[in-house]
Amino acid sequence: MTTEALFDLGALGDDFIRDPYPVYARLRARGPVHRVRIPEGAEAWLVVGYEAGRALLADQRLSKDWGNASPSLGVRKVSVGTSMLGSDAPVHTRLRKLVAREFTPGRMARLAPRVQEMTDALLDAMTDGPVRSADLVTALSVPLPMAVICELLGVPSLDRPAFREWSDAAVSSLDAEARGRAKASMSAYLTGLIAEKRETPGDDLMSALIRTSDDGDQLSADELIGMAWLLLVAGHETTVNLISNGVLSLLTHPGQLAALRADFGLIDNAVEETLRYEGPVETPTYRFTTEPLDVAGTVIPGGGELVLVAMADCDRDPARYPDGDRFDLTRDARGHVAFGHGIHYCLGAPLARIEARVAIRSLLERCPGLRLDTDPAELSWRTGMLIRGPLSLPVAW
Ligand code: HEM
Repeated sequence: MTTEALFDLGALGDDFIRDPYPVYARLRARGPVHRVRIPEGAEAWLVVGYEAGRALLADQRLSKDWGNASPSLGVRKVSVGTSMLGSDAPVHTRLRKLVAREFTPGRMARLAPRVQEMTDALLDAMTDGPVRSADLVTALSVPLPMAVICELLGVPSLDRPAFREWSDAAVSSLDAEARGRAKASMSAYLTGLIAEKRETPGDDLMSALIRTSDDGDQLSADELIGMAWLLLVAGHETTVNLISNGVLSLLTHPGQLAALRADFGLIDNAVEETLRYEGPVETPTYRFTTEPLDVAGTVIPGGGELVLVAMADCDRDPARYPDGDRFDLTRDARGHVAFGHGIHYCLGAPLARIEARVAIRSLLERCPGLRLDTDPAELSWRTGMLIRGPLSLPVAW
């Protein structure tokens, strides 16, 4: 057992939100497993370092089912309904199979021209007129993934402030009451959306899922809401920050930006290196122990303890990526865990990659001289340990 005292990550305040990497690195120097209090308030076991972190992401002795969470944890489920991300096999296997074929790399590649059209329209609007500056989060990072996932699912445009507010609060707020309110609003909204779609079905993913649930034996009403919530929220909250974090990393590393401008053949590497260096998911969704787990000599007790893998730290671990704190487009970033690992590996990875490649490349092509229009130290970041990205990203060109 560990004798380590509880380390209060919440007490580190904004410094930890802005730059968590040195804190994780200091913990990693002491070993892979640490008892922490997370900014959301709960006590958890934090696992740092690539080897232990990656192994635990795929370890099915850890459960994603909130039914296995200890009631004394003091954390509440933020998602709505029953979803694959909150289930273990075999429920997970069944739910994932229902939509997996819609997200294959081949299908996603066929979507690329449409992603390009949507990006061009947003960049037209951003660069229209005499003003040569914008908030990139509002102009591109948010509306692009939102439009893409809505079109894919066949739901009306969701880029209205209310949806975004609930979604942001559900995944990033440090206030449990605010998370609860956002969840209730989201649940009511999705119920309405599903009812509308049932009235006027189309040739889209959501209609197909509703038909499956109406047939009775595949998708329950609760699972239908869970699927809609997961695809809509996972489909945009993360990709938003891949676009923003990629642009921010490039603008703060002029040599790397120049290399990409000189050879857009590097765009795939630029996206992979962003995922590794400044991935949008800092720690994945919660996992709970179902039995005692020995991780490098520290036994994490069973009985529903909360376990978090610091994916942001795994991907900067020098044991896996030499000089891991350096943003370098020429390195081989493959093997990063930014999309998770194991049975819950991100279903939307091919889509997210296409969106980020198209968005970042088109932005650089359309905006010569693109630069940050603020001191990077002045940027405000998303709170919480789940999602990492700037709240706004002022740029000028
Ligand atoms: C840069 C963008 C994205 C990142 C970094 C990301 C990251 C992740 C991660 C880390 C997980 C695993 C979480 C865990 O194990 O606890 C995950 C799961 C998932 N992601 Fe993504 N994601 C992104 C974009 C998307 C998009 C665009 C979609 C869909 C349309 C999507 C749909 C999903 C789904 C459905 C799961 C659950 C898979 C399962 O439980 O089997 N994601 N994602």
